[in-house]
Amino acid sequence: MKKRKNIITVAIDSPAAAGAGTQSKYIAKEYNLLYLDTGKIYRLIGLLRIKNIKNFNYKSIKNKINNLKIKDLNNKELLSNKVAVSASIIAKDIKIRKIIKKFQLECGYNPPKQFSGSVLDGRDITSVIMKDAMFKFYITANLEVRAKRRFVELRKLKKRISYKEVLKSLKNRDYLDKKRKYNPLKKTKDSILINTSKLSKKACFIKIKAIIDEKLKFNGSI
Ligand code: C5P
Repeated sequence: MKKRKNIITVAIDSPAAAGAGTQSKYIAKEYNLLYLDTGKIYRLIGLLRIKNIKNFNYKSIKNKINNLKIKDLNNKELLSNKVAVSASIIAKDIKIRKIIKKFQLECGYNPPKQFSGSVLDGRDITSVIMKDAMFKFYITANLEVRAKRRFVELRKLKKRISYKEVLKSLKNRDYLDKKRKYNPLKKTKDSILINTSKLSKKACFIKIKAIIDEKLKFNGSI
């Protein structure tokens, strides 16, 4: 894989609904970076599993990933809780993770020329996919705060789900993601911890921007 030189790379890991997606979008906009929400790729495969259980195999997954365009990840079907649960089931499979890895590396290290770099968020970005990223963050928030946020989001999308169900599902997903054998979610030593429980979206971004700007200034990039 070709690696573009002198690009800004930002790697973010977080449990579900901690606010990583929002922060990644802010970062991408501020620094003109390609944004890849890697969870959406797992969701896409999770959806494939639900829809086409008979023909669900490594070949069909490879085929899907080989033809994947970032805009395919905007599919609204990917946002449901059912798909999220299916995603965390297929995410345990190391062969599937390897198939997805190539696509993530390409976006991370070789983003299209119009971008000054990339920001990827997920569960194994700081620990596996972009270990040498210029910036590494671990974004978290307490379970109740995350459940409340996700519940509001799902309600806005007209999904029929109770707060209790959302809470239970997030707890279960946290468990699956942190305890799985391959590439579990964890905070790497060199990642900066951002706890968003008591911070507004904007306050959180101000914190992250200050960290990024300081290093870029030091490197003479801005
Ligand atoms: O981030 P999101 O909630 O959309 O991710 C859905 C699921 O995909 C996660 O719960 C996790 O099991 C899986 N995932 C993963 N590695 C990533 C991103 C997501 O295992 N890098």
